[in-house]
Amino acid sequence: MADKKFYITTPIYYPSDKLHIGHTYSTVQADAVSRYKRLRGYDTFFLTGTDEHGQKIEDKAKEAGVTPKEYVDKIVDGIKDLWKLMNITNDKFIRTTDEYHEKAVQLIFNKMYEKGDIYKGEYEGLYCKPCEAFWTETQAADGLCPDCGRPVITAKEEAYFFKLSKYADRLLEYYAAHPGFIEPAHRETEMVNNFIKPGLQDLCISRSTFKWGIPVPINPDHVIYVWLDALTNYITALGYGSEDDSLFKKFWPADVHLIGKDITRFHTVYWPAFLMSLDIPLPEKVYCHGWVLLDGGKMSKSKGNVVDPVQLAERYGVDALRYYLLREVAFGADGIFSNENLINRINSDLANDLGNLVSRTVAMVCKYFDVTIPAEREDGEFDAELKALAAETKTEAEKYLDALNFSESLTSIWKFISRTNKYIDETAPWALAKDESNKARLAEVMYNLCESIRIISVFVAPFMPETSVEIRTQLGLAPVEDWEECGVFGKEETYTVVKGDIIFPRLDPEKELEELASLNKAPSNPLRDEIEGVAKIGIDDFAKVDLRVAEVKACEPVAKAKKLLKLTLDDGTGEDRTVASGIALYYKPDELIGKKVILVSNLKSATLCGVESKGMILAADAGEEIKVIFVDGIANGTKIR
Ligand code: ME8
Ligand code: MG
Repeated sequence: MADKKFYITTPIYYPSDKLHIGHTYSTVQADAVSRYKRLRGYDTFFLTGTDEHGQKIEDKAKEAGVTPKEYVDKIVDGIKDLWKLMNITNDKFIRTTDEYHEKAVQLIFNKMYEKGDIYKGEYEGLYCKPCEAFWTETQAADGLCPDCGRPVITAKEEAYFFKLSKYADRLLEYYAAHPGFIEPAHRETEMVNNFIKPGLQDLCISRSTFKWGIPVPINPDHVIYVWLDALTNYITALGYGSEDDSLFKKFWPADVHLIGKDITRFHTVYWPAFLMSLDIPLPEKVYCHGWVLLDGGKMSKSKGNVVDPVQLAERYGVDALRYYLLREVAFGADGIFSNENLINRINSDLANDLGNLVSRTVAMVCKYFDVTIPAEREDGEFDAELKALAAETKTEAEKYLDALNFSESLTSIWKFISRTNKYIDETAPWALAKDESNKARLAEVMYNLCESIRIISVFVAPFMPETSVEIRTQLGLAPVEDWEECGVFGKEETYTVVKGDIIFPRLDPEKELEELASLNKAPSNPLRDEIEGVAKIGIDDFAKVDLRVAEVKACEPVAKAKKLLKLTLDDGTGEDRTVASGIALYYKPDELIGKKVILVSNLKSATLCGVESKGMILAADAGEEIKVIFVDGIANGTKIR
């Protein structure tokens, strides 16, 4: 089996942000296919890691008052925890700050330099600092980064260049000779038409304006600019350029680089050219998946719309989240994440279709046969069709899994789950159970159901590993070890079931949506809560209040009322208006005379300590103090609205 090897990589993630559900999507896909390959007996190597150098990290560390290494160490720990939580079975986690990587990258630089593929020049270009990417005039035509949309700046510095232009023809030839190298195919067209044919420019691979990077071996004033450092992780992780390169010999070339569409250019143009320069064979495939979007927009921390996978996994279980991501996002396309979709999928696919099938079947075996299905059994109608679909589903699921089409693979598996549920309705075990003479038939029906569920437990194992184990525990089986098990109907002699918990409890969608919304509410803000707590009024309600500018003509204290002042106002009508106001502790009459105030003119009149008050004036109640609102330069009687 030595030739059956499988090497898959995810992008190495920037440790600058908390990872969101979009990052989780890349890793979960790689994990599902790795588990599938392992079950099929492939010697599998699954790599993920972190991309830790660059100016952005240096800046953030400075802001936080720590060294860049201290800064990344903490974040990387959190990323590793996330992958543990998501049940990710990566064989290695590479950090670009690992010593073996740094050494190998320097060796790679030297090799390219000796070959004549690296030269020193001066770089002037449009640079996006947050993305750490230089762009051409055409790419950033509007002065904005084509990736993140933020403004680019002009940057100029002495730099080392990689002769990317030299490889343009070889790249085109390679694509043409290797259909399927870039998938989906339209990404290849995009690269050819937008980047290679218009003319590849040589690539800036060093920077001298910051320090946080791998030093250029021939000039320590420079650090290697991120993409040469980052992309080479796929070979340095296997020991390329180190004393022990046995993993490299065994696993390279990679079978799949799984990436998001945003980094297609780096993986299908730069990376192959780097490998050509090093005389290393190219990977079999670069698969560019779509984005997980929120209401049509990309998730980004700066937009404040990231979805936290930890929160969802803790609430609904890791498998529900894995299932949702792998099912909902179609092959190579973008997918929209919404809490509503997630809850619907959990209820319909997991609780109803799969969960019910398992709990109904186990409950029936317990009820009719006291946990063990008897050996005496009798074939009947519908059996053949069920068995045939099991075999067909294996072929389909494999076809799609091999093509990294997780969503279609799950669709075909779910067809089989539905078919099995239908088999229960067709054979109506509850009717068979009424008559002792049907016992052998009932036993066969129960047996077939258990066999179908066993086969389903294999199908779902790459996607939902814990669920597979849980289902098999209820069937009295050990965890699945061999994918081929799903190709045999009739593998087990009989079943002794073990009643377990409901695997996916049904959710109350309304309640869940409410709770998710409140969990994600902005942090507590008492003033905002107070404002939000005030009953809303319509514009019509507000229009009922007649506000006017009025001038204080005269003002005097009110006898026996310490807090009141009696104001005589000119409201523009030419007639005096009297208003009593509770501001005597804050204002002396003299301070008010001649000032313009805001009058609520249509307030019903009231008598306060003997003063008939016709309206009121507006003041701010600052707790300790009351401040009258004064206005300036507006004619008396002017309406305020
Ligand atoms: O680009 N939907 O790192 P990164 C789907 N360090 N996938 C998403 C996503 C979303 N909303 N957001 C991110 C880098 N991703 C470089 C890679 S590789 C040698 C260096 C996924 O942390 C997507 O696969 O910004 C993206 O390419 C990857 O996360 C890494 O993002
Ligand atoms: Mg990115």
